[in-house]
Amino acid sequence: MKVATLFLLASSVCVRADPGFVRLDASILRGSSYKDSQKGAKPYMLEKRADDGSVTMELQNAQSFYEVEVQIGSNNQTVGVLVDTGSSDMWVMNSNNSYCSSSSNRKVKRAGSADMLKKGRDLSDLYNFNSPDDDGNAKALLGGWGDVTTTEIFTQEETQTASAAQATLDCSQFGTFDPSESKSFHNNGTAFHISYQDNSFAYGTWGYDDVTFNGVTVNDLSLAVADETNSQMGVLGIGFRELETTYSGSGSQHYIYDNLPFKMVNQGLIGRAAYSVYLNSSDASSASILFGAVDHSKYSGDLVLLPIINSAASLGYQKPIKLEVTLSAMTVSNSKGQQVSIGSGAAAALFDTGTTLTYAPNDVIEQLAESLNFDYSSSVGAYVTRCNSVESYSINFDFQGKVIEVPLSSFLVALQTTSGQVSSYCALGIFSSGDESFTLGDSFLQNVYFVADLEGYKMAIANVNLSPGNEQVEAISSDSIPSASSVADYSSTWGGSATALDIGQSTSLGSVTAVTTGKVTSSMKAESGVETATSSMSGSTSTSSGSSSGSSSGSKAVSFSVGAVLCAFAVSVLVIG
Ligand SMILES: *[C@@H]1O[C@H](CO)[C@@H](O)[C@H](O)[C@H]1NC(C)=O
Ligand SMILES: *[C@@H]1O[C@H](CO)[C@@H](O)[C@H](O)[C@H]1NC(C)=O
Ligand SMILES: *[C@@H]1O[C@H](CO)[C@@H](O)[C@H](O)[C@H]1NC(C)=O
Ligand SMILES: *[C@@H]1O[C@H](CO)[C@@H](O)[C@H](O)[C@H]1NC(C)=O
Repeated sequence: MKVATLFLLASSVCVRADPGFVRLDASILRGSSYKDSQKGAKPYMLEKRADDGSVTMELQNAQSFYEVEVQIGSNNQTVGVLVDTGSSDMWVMNSNNSYCSSSSNRKVKRAGSADMLKKGRDLSDLYNFNSPDDDGNAKALLGGWGDVTTTEIFTQEETQTASAAQATLDCSQFGTFDPSESKSFHNNGTAFHISYQDNSFAYGTWGYDDVTFNGVTVNDLSLAVADETNSQMGVLGIGFRELETTYSGSGSQHYIYDNLPFKMVNQGLIGRAAYSVYLNSSDASSASILFGAVDHSKYSGDLVLLPIINSAASLGYQKPIKLEVTLSAMTVSNSKGQQVSIGSGAAAALFDTGTTLTYAPNDVIEQLAESLNFDYSSSVGAYVTRCNSVESYSINFDFQGKVIEVPLSSFLVALQTTSGQVSSYCALGIFSSGDESFTLGDSFLQNVYFVADLEGYKMAIANVNLSPGNEQVEAISSDSIPSASSVADYSSTWGGSATALDIGQSTSLGSVTAVTTGKVTSSMKAESGVETATSSMSGSTSTSSGSSSGSSSGSKAVSFSVGAVLCAFAVSVLVIG
């Protein structure tokens, strides 16, 4: 899987409901290429056999995302953009993008799109307000990209090493924008550059134009037009203004402009720069982002207000720049209410709709794998276990006392042979974040309803309600999110305090010995006798986890191998074939 060709499921609709809020319905698109994409497809890993007999697994469909179609300019040019809470700028592809397969300018190709979609902004070029003259800051990390113009970026060598597959984008898929065709387009004449964590990037020029979200027109919305990008589509970044590249990028000027949520406020479309995100179920074809309001039908239980972390305070940022809250504990549990601790402390957790999967620190992943009796498979390159042995498990994310319980199935990735047979083994689809922080992508976010108040630098979260019934929309007009109650240790000052989750003692659910702490989820409490179950369970464990009882000593596991996966493949081929 190289250049990601994405699969279009449905066109997006955006409906202006009552004054005071704007509902943006996004299409959920999934896939890694036209061929293997399908409705409701989830990420999975596909077996690749080399000529020498070696087998590896490659992640497929890890490019699920949320697309909205917008009309730009006096002639309503339709362009699909990806909705991204992990960045803050809107940009679209210029029709002359030299990466398009049809472009006469076709030339350079740097490293192609990543296998996994991660549209969180790459912050290696984050501007340091404390030492503005420190050239070692961003530019070194960027490999000298800082100030060069787009055409100078690509060396001959890079062009030659790029494969043909990376050299072309089908730019007609989501549409491009030709600013010369729009009479209402204004060019700001300033340079735009953004890069994302998945190695995609866009270079272009800032401008502004009228942008219509199927009926709701936002006038003079700042948008960049990119004529050099290896991204399949443009991005609608709706994060904090402090994360705009004009402010926190490595350029010479640092200013904030009104991105979409703030522009909507200025034009009276909504009362506050805030929105609620409902990503819908994993097999749905549409999701909804409600600007300026909360829909009380879309969550169950309490809507809980969390302080946002200012993780860039040390670089001189006065206010938070990312939708990041504190993850204070993680546990895993089974349907019997048995629960083991994965870790506790204070880690930064980013809510990023532009990222498909979920990323965690290495030690957390190892602890999860151990607790859930997964074994590492080097051929798969991930932790694997029998899919049916984990059905009733969940991973519980505790945000300062508010626990979001996520079925383990949300994070499972199926394994499949080239001939299409599905293994009875599944991989754990939580990958390394590379540091102590978490990036909670769509696989997590589908289980939560969240409200981001960009003006108040707050976020409220609740358990999602996937059978919502009639809408119960309430506008957000003041400095409070309707019905949201603060966590006990809520603070309106944003600390840079989050560090890490400290990993607990190793235990596995198959041999539950760990005892839950006071921070038990409300849903866990609702289940009868959690505490009793945990303390009196000695004899009952093996029944709860079925065939995995043999490993109940918690012994760890190098033993699992490629062989088992291949064997599972072979068996299913024999049986089904
Ligand atoms: C573009 O769309 C807007 C809003 O839907 C509409 O009012 C306008 O007439 C359209 N313009 C053209 C040229 O189609
Ligand atoms: C694309 O068009 C813009 C004007 O809209 C121009 O500035 C830019 O140089 C063009 N890029 C290429 C690669 O031709
Ligand atoms: C582009 O120019 C307009 C008009 O001066 C301004 O309001 C807007 O903030 C500018 N956008 C950016 C990204 O600089
Ligand atoms: C959620 O998905 C269901 C099933 O696809 C669909 O009927 C519903 O309209 C979706 N809800 C939203 C808000 O997009």
